[in-house]
Amino acid sequence: MGINGDGFHSAYTTAESARNGDLSTAERDGTNIPKYDDYGYSILEQPMGTKRSVRVILMGAGASTLNFLKKAEEQLQDVKITVYEKNPDIGGTWLENRYPGAACDIPSVNYQFSWKIKLWSHFYSYSPEIWRYLKDIEEENDFISKYIKLKHQIEHAEWSESAGVWKLRVKDLTSGKVFDDEPEFFINGGGVLNNWKWPDVSGLHDFTGKLMHSAHYDEGYSLEGKRVAVLGAGSSGVQIVASIQPKVKQLYHWVRSPIWITAGFAQTWAGRDGANFEYSQEQLQYLQDHPEKYMEYRKQIENELNQRFKFIIKGSEEATSAREFSFEQMRRKLKEDPRLCEKIIPKTFNPGCRRPTPAPGYLEALTADNTTVFTENMTKVTATGFIDGAGTHHEVDVLICATGFDTTWLPRFPLIAHGRDLRDFWSGENNVTSYLSVGIPTFPNHFTFCGPYGPLGHGSFMPLIERWTQYMIDVIRKCQTEHIKSVTPKLQASLHFRQHADLFLKRTAWTSSCRSWFKQGRADGQAAIYPGSRLHFFEIMKQPRYEDYEITYWHENEFAFMGNGFETREFDGRDITNYLGSLDGRDVQPRYDEKLIEKLAGWTIDESYEVRHS
Ligand SMILES: Cc1cc2nc3c(=O)[nH]c(=O)nc-3n(C[C@H](O)[C@H](O)[C@H](O)COP(=O)(O)OP(=O)(O)OC[C@H]3O[C@@H](n4cnc5c(N)ncnc54)[C@H](O)[C@@H]3O)c2cc1C
Ligand SMILES: NC(=O)c1ccc[n+]([C@@H]2O[C@H](COP(=O)([O-])OP(=O)(O)OC[C@H]3O[C@@H](n4cnc5c(N)ncnc54)[C@H](OP(=O)(O)O)[C@@H]3O)[C@@H](O)[C@H]2O)c1
Repeated sequence: MGINGDGFHSAYTTAESARNGDLSTAERDGTNIPKYDDYGYSILEQPMGTKRSVRVILMGAGASTLNFLKKAEEQLQDVKITVYEKNPDIGGTWLENRYPGAACDIPSVNYQFSWKIKLWSHFYSYSPEIWRYLKDIEEENDFISKYIKLKHQIEHAEWSESAGVWKLRVKDLTSGKVFDDEPEFFINGGGVLNNWKWPDVSGLHDFTGKLMHSAHYDEGYSLEGKRVAVLGAGSSGVQIVASIQPKVKQLYHWVRSPIWITAGFAQTWAGRDGANFEYSQEQLQYLQDHPEKYMEYRKQIENELNQRFKFIIKGSEEATSAREFSFEQMRRKLKEDPRLCEKIIPKTFNPGCRRPTPAPGYLEALTADNTTVFTENMTKVTATGFIDGAGTHHEVDVLICATGFDTTWLPRFPLIAHGRDLRDFWSGENNVTSYLSVGIPTFPNHFTFCGPYGPLGHGSFMPLIERWTQYMIDVIRKCQTEHIKSVTPKLQASLHFRQHADLFLKRTAWTSSCRSWFKQGRADGQAAIYPGSRLHFFEIMKQPRYEDYEITYWHENEFAFMGNGFETREFDGRDITNYLGSLDGRDVQPRYDEKLIEKLAGWTIDESYEVRHS
């Protein structure tokens, strides 16, 4: 088919011929309407709005996927969803991170979904409670029996242009069997902080004591009275140290890079000096009885969190006061210990360069009698302990590596589209080029939760997850109703987004000279963070910018989805006059008052033009 402007032959009788009286019976009865035009085009015999059935596969069953499942059930039709999760249960971050003190550092009331508000035990709740919250969502909605296949790992993914599907290879971790699956859409909910890594320290695996990573921790393992070494002073390390220092016999801790230990998120609402606290029964009852006040409480805290973007901007008043405040706090809490102040308090970057690490009790733990702090790299681990920078051997019972995650953004398996593996595309000179954090240029029908260049540097992930979800659902629904085969972020648009981001980011603390996971763990790494505030992100993600996508269709004529001239609401029970407003707020065909006609029809008016009253 091709429409080349070479004239269109009307299938209909012209007004002229009708006037001339040659309206045939067949024409009148509609029996001579052609099925095809001269180019072989035919009408899709279905109302516009009819959804094409599609399959969606999500990788991972953490918070992102659970939110997607909930919203998909509410908003999508004719979509078959499968989730592959490598772990034996749902929960992702909150299933895996069970080290002592593991908690959210965003106030709990704002680390929850807007559609599932609960009363939390603590201001910053601990990992088991957050996991339970997610598990409740799963159980209340029966997500495992409906969608989630546990102990299944995605090992390979390649886009098939001809078939318009992703070809996935999945391993059943129980049976070891590998099988294929072919969804139209493949969503990465595999987590940005899921691929935990051991430190590169000589002899680490020769250690015969207890060796654990913070994200792969033997929950409940007793450290009482033991000699413990903790490597790493990121958010995980500081929580561990603050939590275990009072219990252990001897604590050795490495802070190899300077860190800002900042005021807690939403400090004004925290306990004394930023401390965590357990809500009293009275407080919980008050929140229970006054949902509108609970809402205001959440909004006031979020209000405070949203202000924090200002202190990320280099040279801002907020940056200066955050630095001065944190400096004073750190000095005081480090008891003005000259070595620790000199080595630990950053001089060359502002708070926010690394993800802020609010850690009630951490600085106090560093100056405790049973703590030894090392500020250089660990030299060597032995079977029974480690050798410090001065060459002295220390025996320890437990070695905890709070050494973070692989945050290079490179997938752990081949992820291929148009013959190119993302691991090559995003390596070396090219680095990571994302489309607004949610897409990958040239990779069709693929979305990512918490992807690179997302607003991961400040505030709670939960509202972001809700926004990514809505965006994905909007695109999938459009593809279904407009019979779109593929949507692919354009390379040019993605490069332009990155150009803007990379220049803007120079204004922010994220590009200062600190080593941070935002920069793949390197001081000179690429800061893959969204170039703006969370509000800025919410706004740009409100509606997909389809002009940034290459779009291909299942039909050669992209308007084929217009179908048989009707719209689905004319058949599915929805209100067919909805554009006038609704009688009862619902979008269903109303049961009309049959008596109204007796009052308002013309025939009810008598000859003197008065309305007859029945
Ligand atoms: C210790 C810690 C504390 C945090 N605290 C906060 C906080 O206070 N506030 C905040 O906003 N954010 C916090 N975060 C970030 C947190 O990761 C997010 O808030 C959120 O939980 C991410 O959810 P997710 O579903 O996107 O990913 P995850 O929870 O990471 O889940 C990803 C899932 O994908 C699965 N998976 C990965 N690869 C595969 C594969 N190939 N096949 C099958 N399954 C796979 C994993 O097993 C995992 O279950 C924290 C992160 C960590 C590590
Ligand atoms: N809400 C919370 O309370 C919470 C808790 C935990 C994690 N998180 C999230 O998870 C992210 C990651 O946190 P994380 O603490 O797990 O990882 P991280 O921030 O990447 O910190 C890893 C730490 O390990 C150190 N390290 C790595 N290799 C080392 C080595 N060989 N010797 C000595 N030290 C070494 C790093 O030092 P260098 O900096 O010098 O590389 C760094 O201090 C956080 O930023 C946050 O987003 C949140």
